[in-house]
Amino acid sequence: MSRTVYVNGEYLPEEDAKISIFDRGFLMADAVYEVTSVLDGKLIDFEGHAVRLKRSLDELEMAEPCTKDELLAIHRKLVADNGIVEGLVYLQVTRGSDGDRDFVFPSEDTPPSIVLFTQNKPGLADSPAAKKGAKIISIEDIRWGRRDIKTVQLLYPSMGKMMAKKAGCDDAWLVEDGHVTEGTSNNAYFVKDGVIVTRPLSNDILHGITRKAVLRMAAEAQLKIEERLFTIEEAQGADEAFTTSASAFVMPVVEIDGVALGEGTPGPIATRLREIYLDESLKAAI
Ligand code: PDD
Repeated sequence: MSRTVYVNGEYLPEEDAKISIFDRGFLMADAVYEVTSVLDGKLIDFEGHAVRLKRSLDELEMAEPCTKDELLAIHRKLVADNGIVEGLVYLQVTRGSDGDRDFVFPSEDTPPSIVLFTQNKPGLADSPAAKKGAKIISIEDIRWGRRDIKTVQLLYPSMGKMMAKKAGCDDAWLVEDGHVTEGTSNNAYFVKDGVIVTRPLSNDILHGITRKAVLRMAAEAQLKIEERLFTIEEAQGADEAFTTSASAFVMPVVEIDGVALGEGTPGPIATRLREIYLDESLKAAI
């Protein structure tokens, strides 16, 4: 069945949705995005995603396409019209188009483009993949230096996912100067002797909305957290590991570059954090 999507002020069947071939999102990856999860037909941490969207737009001097309230109304209407109980809302804002290709930004009165669509994902919370845990490979991080801005430059992360797939694994962790930055589309953690270790926030990683919530919930559960650089070898010697993202919540990691962690099954802390996160997020969902 065709989805209803949102393009520049209009709700349309997906086959009727159109964006200019001159749109800078298409030509130059001059665009930012957000992915918000939906559980029980409600949005998880909409506020966090709206705040990060504003930050991404500001960092790139891109205009806001609409207000936060309008954004919320669009999200809600798409979730309702498409009957999404569990799934995702994808949002993309581009610098728009002034009808040609030019490296120079278009004039300031050029309106940004805004596109939203839903993805139906039944079983997102009760995920078989999370029960199994993910196998990870490590690859060099050759992305640009402003990974804190959530741009649509996703070619290398996408290649990383394919490298993992070819190696019979599920995902890749990116390594720069010997230290793990993050996963292809998630933040990375390991747990050793009850301490959760993850890289501190900087321009090197995306400031995950799930990361922020999970670290808060971990602290509330009296778990110890260390935000510091770490290597693949250190993570391989851990008791357990996991990733966080809006699309997979807390995902246990059971193997890194062929080395099984702990029992080679999802660890107790990752499993507990996943439960706490789903529980708390659902209570706060709007
Ligand atoms: N990805 N790091 C990267 C590189 C990401 O692409 C993502 C999210 C995260 C986690 O951020 P959050 O917790 O706010 O989802 C970290 C989304 C889900 C995606 O690209 O589909």
